[in-house]
Amino acid sequence: MKSLCFTALILSLITPAWTTTPTEQFYEELSFRNLKDGRVATRFSFKTVLNGSVPRDPSTLGQEDQSQHYRLFPLAMGQILREYALTELHLTLNAGNWDYDRWGYLDEPSVGTGAELWTWMADGAPSSIDERWEGTRNALGGLFCSSLGGLNDKRTTSPESVFRPEGDLPDWGKPHRLRHASLASENVCTENLTPFIKLLPCKALSGIATLLNPHRLFDADWHGLGVHVVWNEHTGVEISLVIQAVLNPFRFSQEKTIEWSFNSLFKKQVERQCPIASASTLSVSFPAGESWSLEPQGSKSEGGVSLYDLAQAQYPFDLQAKASTDLSTSVHEDFKPPLRVQRALNGPSQAYGRLSVSFSNTGAAPVQALYLETMPWLVQFYLHTLTASANGTENGELLSHIQYTPAVPHGKPATVQLEVHVPAYTEVLLTMEVAKSFLRYTDHPPDAQRGWDLPPAVVIPFLVEQNSSSNAISLRKLPRMYTNSLLVDLATPDFSMPYNVIIFTCSLIAFLFGSVFNMLTRNFVVVSLKDDSETEKP
Ligand SMILES: *[C@@H]1O[C@H](CO)[C@@H](O)[C@H](O)[C@H]1NC(C)=O
Ligand SMILES: *[C@@H]1O[C@H](CO)[C@@H](O)[C@H](O)[C@H]1NC(C)=O
Ligand SMILES: *[C@@H]1O[C@H](CO)[C@@H](O)[C@H](O)[C@H]1NC(C)=O
Repeated sequence: MKSLCFTALILSLITPAWTTTPTEQFYEELSFRNLKDGRVATRFSFKTVLNGSVPRDPSTLGQEDQSQHYRLFPLAMGQILREYALTELHLTLNAGNWDYDRWGYLDEPSVGTGAELWTWMADGAPSSIDERWEGTRNALGGLFCSSLGGLNDKRTTSPESVFRPEGDLPDWGKPHRLRHASLASENVCTENLTPFIKLLPCKALSGIATLLNPHRLFDADWHGLGVHVVWNEHTGVEISLVIQAVLNPFRFSQEKTIEWSFNSLFKKQVERQCPIASASTLSVSFPAGESWSLEPQGSKSEGGVSLYDLAQAQYPFDLQAKASTDLSTSVHEDFKPPLRVQRALNGPSQAYGRLSVSFSNTGAAPVQALYLETMPWLVQFYLHTLTASANGTENGELLSHIQYTPAVPHGKPATVQLEVHVPAYTEVLLTMEVAKSFLRYTDHPPDAQRGWDLPPAVVIPFLVEQNSSSNAISLRKLPRMYTNSLLVDLATPDFSMPYNVIIFTCSLIAFLFGSVFNMLTRNFVVVSLKDDSETEKP
């Protein structure tokens, strides 16, 4: 009787927790895409779905939160998401410039150089959105060992039409707000990868995460880490941890070929399966017109992509890609993204400059591009000097929907958002005069002569398609593109001057003090030489 009561008590304590705990699934996916130039784009994706969960309602932020029990979902991320009631979060840390012309588009559009963080969160909390945004970036900076604290108010904007939510937004009767910031000078390295791997349920012990060799990943021509949290109405909160790299097999191969295997790319192979993964897949694709053979062969092939189910694979698993024909003779269908964007800041002076952005349309369809420039207050725009020219002839009609938010010195950045119409086979050049600010000497970073990194601009191209039968015009949205980041040279004081003054003063003091000290402490005695001369006589 007693034990029955006890069991009932335990059950009554445990059951509510069991019924409210959402189920969790973990999926891992690895993809390889051979690029036209022989490089291999790899993408590791680790997705955990908290089935049936909803993000925290910000109006409950003042109250005690429900307890968090996760089996697979990373607890450190769960705590940050609930502490600041975030609905959606995207953090990327990338190094290198993504080459759209040679590498095309990626599955993950966030390829801008440096750190980029954006969140969607609902209003209605006791604390303001900006306080929660500050807390979020400090917490994430601590978690991923990166200087995300530098994404401060001087870099924060909310360009809501460019960074749309990628999942669903719950309806709490309060509007959702975007906060976005990027920092081009943030470097990504091993110390960011270690906390990242810690968030995975299998760590790097089994499954595809075994291949994450930092020596190879951070040696790649382009590499990046990403954390994406979205809420999907039908499944729940989903977190994807993504690692991408563009590797050059030629550099790693002993025989100097562009053929590759897991062992040649990562110096590792997959030793065992991650036992808790609901699905573990591998996909490999090659450019059209090239003939490659894979060992072992994929379980099925869809549209030129070989697919593998790693749950059925033989372990240890190593994939070998061999070229079946001489690749030097292969003909590529020349796919290029229809729009090419190049940005430069030129001008010889340290006080003024000219920003020029060139949009080249290489396709037969016109492109309508949404251009967003976020500039820290260091560089100020003269908007009245904005001009657009097509093939060298000025044409103001190419620009529309210009929105400009001026910068607040030492405060907020400036944003310019506009739409550019780029006709077929045409190069449209935007130019604008800018002024470079004169900083206080305390505002300069320790390596002041290096210059300041300016974040990449963002472009969303829309292909203008005309339906030949009904003459209706439709816009097809293409993935977001990032321009290169810029380095601006501001007027820098001669920081060696105080050093020279200090050295000169110290020398002078040492000289004076030395002489006086010498005079004061030296013992002057009269030495008679007469006796000596007598004694020296024979
Ligand atoms: C998610 O939960 C719903 C019910 O809550 C269930 O019907 C569905 O099968 C679950 N999905 C997965 C992938 O387990
Ligand atoms: C720009 O020049 C290219 C050829 O160099 C031409 O095909 C295109 O139509 C020109 N665009 C405009 C708007 O004149
Ligand atoms: C073009 O418009 C017609 C009629 O509106 C429609 O039936 C057809 O599907 C459209 N074609 C394309 C390619 O959108």
